[in-house]
Amino acid sequence: MPRPATVHVCSACGHQEARWHGQCPGCGEWNTLVEEAAARPARGGGGGRAAAGAAAVRPQRLRDVSTPEIARLETGIREFDRVLGGGLVPGSLVLLGGSPGIGKSTLTGMALGNLEAADRRTLYVSGEESAAQIRLRAARISSPPTRALDVPVLAETDLGAVLATLEAECPEVCVIDSVQTLHASELTGAPGSVGQVREVAGRIMDVAKRNGIAVLLVGHVTKEGALAGPRVLEHLVDCVLQFEGERERTYRTLRALKNRFGSTSEVGVFEMRSGGLVEVLDASARFVGQVTRAPGSVVLAAMEGTRPLLVEVQALVSPSELVPPRRLTNGIDRNRLALVLAVLTRHAGVPTGSADVFVNVVGGVRIDEPGADLAVALAVASAARGTPLGFDEGRPLACFGEVGLTGELRSVAHPDRRLEEAAKFGLAPVLSPETAPNLRAALRAALPAPARAAA
Ligand code: TYD
Ligand code: MG
Repeated sequence: MPRPATVHVCSACGHQEARWHGQCPGCGEWNTLVEEAAARPARGGGGGRAAAGAAAVRPQRLRDVSTPEIARLETGIREFDRVLGGGLVPGSLVLLGGSPGIGKSTLTGMALGNLEAADRRTLYVSGEESAAQIRLRAARISSPPTRALDVPVLAETDLGAVLATLEAECPEVCVIDSVQTLHASELTGAPGSVGQVREVAGRIMDVAKRNGIAVLLVGHVTKEGALAGPRVLEHLVDCVLQFEGERERTYRTLRALKNRFGSTSEVGVFEMRSGGLVEVLDASARFVGQVTRAPGSVVLAAMEGTRPLLVEVQALVSPSELVPPRRLTNGIDRNRLALVLAVLTRHAGVPTGSADVFVNVVGGVRIDEPGADLAVALAVASAARGTPLGFDEGRPLACFGEVGLTGELRSVAHPDRRLEEAAKFGLAPVLSPETAPNLRAALRAALPAPARAAA
């Protein structure tokens, strides 16, 4: 009897079935069967059960292990290289996730253009767009030093054809845009299904590792923000990058969620312009330059990975008829705002229970660290009282610090680097846990007395 080409494996108990079932006959779980190729060559250590007769291997001391210098392939986009840990590692697999329209194709296209200009062999595989569409984009981003128009492209969705082309062309760097559009004809599942995505990535990895090809796999992100399908790839790939921001805004950030060859705390900031993505190396200067100094505005000395970043946090507090009143945030966590509002009410004499509160981090930046608490608290208090913050006229107030539940200010990471960045832009002194023990003291220092009396 011919062996079936695929099996359906339960991701909960490992039970195998020839046909797909909604419920696993093995463990009774629903929707856990995932299609896989029945015979998968050279993966998962075929024939690994030979332990019985095998000779023992002598472990090596770490200090005796040689560490070959890896020659990284620089994409020529400094922010991208930094997040990667210094460039692409030959033979590595990088997963780049992001919502549609965020600029994944633009970023990878630009990187290949630069690599091509540095005489590297590249290949751009697209299952999403036709070669003509890719050319149109390349023409937009093809400013002189890049050679985006010289990048070889392959508009193909059949995995077999892509693998054969990879073997034949053997590029140094290859972009697969996107992993959800390729499909392995052996599997019956639709492109983008978990089984397909896993098979596609696994087979591409085989070819890439064997030929030393650095592969950038582009993946989509669901509405909820998780990498769709490719979630299952996170353990397989060497590096997971997330490209985020809002499509309508110009700023985009690139962060590493996992990186076997570098730190995961680096963040790259980009701006989408008509000629492609532009690195924003002086993000603080841009954001500080636009600070309004109106009531409700404060500068947050934030950390984006290892990089300090000054951003403006704005709040609006407006009387509300609604029960419960509105709490809307942009760029910070809504639960964090709820906590800060509660502490303001209980420990700092700033009640907001009958007001709508809106908080926005200007420029579409998302801040995901507790150090933003103090900025949110100061912005809300300043908005509630209609008084601008500041130690003196003309200069915006900068701050950072976590707000504790008893109203205390708590230290956060890298205070020195935050202070340095603020000083660089003339924003000193900075309000922080080091200068104020609690929120009440911080408000006393930052909100001029007469206005407080009036409030
Ligand atoms: P794209 O890279 O296609 O996004 P993704 O691959 O993540 O879906 O481009 C995203 C958007 O950026 C697109 O709507 C058009 C815009 N864009 C520019 O503003 N300037 C440019 O130079 C390019 C190439 C695109
Ligand atoms: Mg795209």
